[in-house]
Amino acid sequence: MIPQSFITDLLNRVDIVDIVGRYVQLKKGGANYMGLCPFHNEKSPSFTVSPTKQFYHCFGCGAHGTSIGFLIEYSGMGFVDAVKDLAQGVGMVVPEADDKIPPQQRAAQQAQSLAMTDALTQACTFYRAQLREAPNAIAYLKNRGLTGEVAARFGMGYAPSGWDNLRSVFPDYDALALVESGLVIDKVDEDGGNKKRYDRFRERIMFPIRNTKGQVIGFGGRVLDSGEPKYLNSPETPLFQKGLELYGLFEARQSIRDTGYVLVTEGYMDVVALAQLGFPQAVATLGTACTSTHVQKLLRQTDTVVFSFDGDKAGRRAARRALEACLPQVTDDKTIKFLFLPQEHDPDSFVRERGGDAFAQEINEAMPLSQFLLREVTTEHDLSTPEGRAHAQFEAKPLLQSMTPTALRLQIVRGLASLTESTPAELEALFELSKPVSVIRKAPPRQGRPQPVGLPLQMLRILVSHPHLALLLDETILQSFDFLGQDDADSLRYLASVAQALGEHGNFAALSQQLKEVTGEYDSIISEIASEPESDLDADRICLMSAVRQIKVDTLKKELNQLSSSGMTPDQITRYREIAAELDALDREAVAERAPR
Ligand code: UTP
Ligand code: MN
Repeated sequence: MIPQSFITDLLNRVDIVDIVGRYVQLKKGGANYMGLCPFHNEKSPSFTVSPTKQFYHCFGCGAHGTSIGFLIEYSGMGFVDAVKDLAQGVGMVVPEADDKIPPQQRAAQQAQSLAMTDALTQACTFYRAQLREAPNAIAYLKNRGLTGEVAARFGMGYAPSGWDNLRSVFPDYDALALVESGLVIDKVDEDGGNKKRYDRFRERIMFPIRNTKGQVIGFGGRVLDSGEPKYLNSPETPLFQKGLELYGLFEARQSIRDTGYVLVTEGYMDVVALAQLGFPQAVATLGTACTSTHVQKLLRQTDTVVFSFDGDKAGRRAARRALEACLPQVTDDKTIKFLFLPQEHDPDSFVRERGGDAFAQEINEAMPLSQFLLREVTTEHDLSTPEGRAHAQFEAKPLLQSMTPTALRLQIVRGLASLTESTPAELEALFELSKPVSVIRKAPPRQGRPQPVGLPLQMLRILVSHPHLALLLDETILQSFDFLGQDDADSLRYLASVAQALGEHGNFAALSQQLKEVTGEYDSIISEIASEPESDLDADRICLMSAVRQIKVDTLKKELNQLSSSGMTPDQITRYREIAAELDALDREAVAERAPR
């Protein structure tokens, strides 16, 4: 959990005009900036960004929010990533959740990962040296068409036969780091007594897996013959999680930048072979499905991701998983494509058989995400029948729901609509898509006579506009809200408590960001305030305090009425006088406030 105080600080430091301006062309118009709304299609600008409120608001579709909200909506980032992104821009460091871990424990964790990296690096050096001494392994690689140069580039090595070769590498073969990093396996006897330790990798070609910093975090090892398993991988460790890492990303980074895209394959050998044959921008998932984190990691490096899948059934399944991982991450400035190789091929074998030009052409002609999605949901169904069309829509629903409201989503909805004899708006409604892109919601009335507003609504609006004014409301005042009735009292007290928690720097942007996390109850007020000119702080303060006074007066008068309606005991007479005096004092306060200063 990122502390709320940090969020408030952050929103005070970033400038929403900068943030939004990175993605939307803004022009100054009066106190605000205007532009074309990125959340719906429009020809004339109804999207405004207020530098004083640090808030954006669209009069066309009603979209609104803070800098954080904008990043979340626009780029599909998660809350934490959006906060990190903004913090980085203004030189703030997001307090890590593990700040709560006691320093001693943290130091121990750091020592552990250091020991593991160290062990893995030493093992890597050892395996590399062993490859030079292993004619059979060299022959295998040569036979697969690899040069010494590319093997060196990927730090490839060889784990010779024998159960405990690493004993010669590490002075202490029993060290904890060896088993923790997955280099050795501890076998415990049936009776739980004797522990026997042996090397995990034996007689295998070794592919070191590096993180983006270039540190070795694990290995994949391939058998030379047809033994099982074909590939043996390091187990997951705190350093190495398959769902987060991509093989070859460290080696490919510069080429990805140079060529403007990354090619995602399924195998170690594909990456190495492609690097040698003119496609050094290739990476591979590690024998696992492609995750959203993988996609996010790739989209941070480049705007275009091309997935290549083997032409078999497993390849098609993997493609479907990759599609699902991409949908929450894709934005309108990114391109994701899917390449399906002929049945019997993977990228390695394809390039060797047909050559680099043919492969380059395949990449060029890869299927765009939108087309793949539509194909996925329609192929199995007979679109000439209502049932078939409904079934296709049914399958598309979760996929479209996982997308953020992008122009691409609208394009896919349009495509599906025409394939299934529906309208885009019908599909958006049917799928309950967040922020329908095709339906332009009615703009809230901008001008015109203000609707008469009740006291509670007026107070809510003031507290939302200027949350720090809530600091004027003490416990007695909050209690007195009972007079307004349960519902209004509750929503005022809740709002006040959230606003007070923001402290004296609390502002509209911070409050609405905070409320957004927990409740939609104040959305319409937030939306109204976002669309109006900023209200005057002093006027609001006076207005709030006079509302508070009004409630006190009404409460006291009600009590007074109840007292005088029956014959009074001496105690009640005392109370009657007290109330009269209080009312008198409140009256004088009001007169004093109205007097010109
Ligand atoms: P493949 O079986 O397609 O192998 O597995 P490949 O990459 O084409 O390798 P070569 O060409 O036969 O040498 C694809 C990926 O799946 C994982 C590995 O990451 C491999 O690169 N895998 C496969 C395993 O982890 N274990 C296995 O036993 C097999
Ligand atoms: Mn292969």
